[in-house]
Amino acid sequence: MKILIVGCNGQLGRDCQTAFGARHELMCLDLPEIDIANPDSIRTAMEQFAPEAVVNCAAYTRVDDAEKHPELCHRVNALGPQYLAQACEAIQARLFHISTDYVFDGLRPLGEVYTEDDTPSPLGVYGATKLAGERPVLAYARGTVLRTAWLYGATGPNFLLTMLRLARRQPPQPIRVVNDQHGTPTWSWRLALQIAHLLEVDAPGLYHATSQGSCTWFVLARRFLEAMGCSVEVVPITTAEYPTPARRPANSVLDNRNLKRAGLDVMIPWEEDLDAFVALNRESWLRRVQS
Ligand SMILES: NC(=O)c1ccc[n+]([C@@H]2O[C@H](COP(=O)([O-])OP(=O)(O)OC[C@H]3O[C@@H](n4cnc5c(N)ncnc54)[C@H](OP(=O)(O)O)[C@@H]3O)[C@@H](O)[C@H]2O)c1
Repeated sequence: MKILIVGCNGQLGRDCQTAFGARHELMCLDLPEIDIANPDSIRTAMEQFAPEAVVNCAAYTRVDDAEKHPELCHRVNALGPQYLAQACEAIQARLFHISTDYVFDGLRPLGEVYTEDDTPSPLGVYGATKLAGERPVLAYARGTVLRTAWLYGATGPNFLLTMLRLARRQPPQPIRVVNDQHGTPTWSWRLALQIAHLLEVDAPGLYHATSQGSCTWFVLARRFLEAMGCSVEVVPITTAEYPTPARRPANSVLDNRNLKRAGLDVMIPWEEDLDAFVALNRESWLRRVQS
């Protein structure tokens, strides 16, 4: 299949290149070669390559900066998918688009999860613009939206890389990490495999696509740093003790209900993926934070 990967230099984009590469013919684009906020730039790429499927990994992902730059965030996260959906419809290409758990306000009691039928209610600019971007994709008959969460990949930047940098400070200092936000860490490689699986079938519509299980940022940081062999102290704190420009959901645990019902869910427990990720990337990440 001819697949255009947009945002190919991001965490998910890079893993999609590897995950799809052997089986498909790929065109991989990112800024500045393509700007999804510019319909002409999308049209040029579509005319050149005439893809059968487009996988949109591009987004404005800086959740806190989004509060200061709502217009830019809206152009990329809301208008970008709209332009992509229009361009795909013109040539009847399939469109895969990635959204986020931050479309929910996270006010559900702990232990309860969000399914695809639950009504989103984003707390911040990032979540609101991502929600706006879902709509034109879902309105297109060949559009698929995958909502994922707490994504990390080898290239970063991401929460895990930040934790590792903090753990390597000299002299060592305890790391304070929020312990009252619950979600599901998801390896971008596993999500790329999930998309590769969906490429093989006809599966338009909305899907939650996170790893299995859930934890807090504190639990994630502690497990990751232990696996990396860092003996730094990790201290649990509350959201109130770590104010950020963007509010974040307290419980944004998603249930991959639609994937499971369709027999298409390839996601595995987050702990297994984290261990596999560390085994693969430990040495290169340690070198990276030393240099
Ligand atoms: N990261 C998470 O924790 C998380 C959680 C839930 C959902 N998601 C969603 O998952 C998807 C992939 O996330 P990710 O972490 O892989 O993102 P990422 O690493 O930030 O990669 C996004 C890529 O898109 C590019 N980009 C930004 N604006 C663009 C534009 N106007 N036109 C074309 N490319 C543009 C970025 O380039 P620059 O680097 O030059 O800006 C970057 O290469 C996104 O849709 C994101 O919203 C992410």
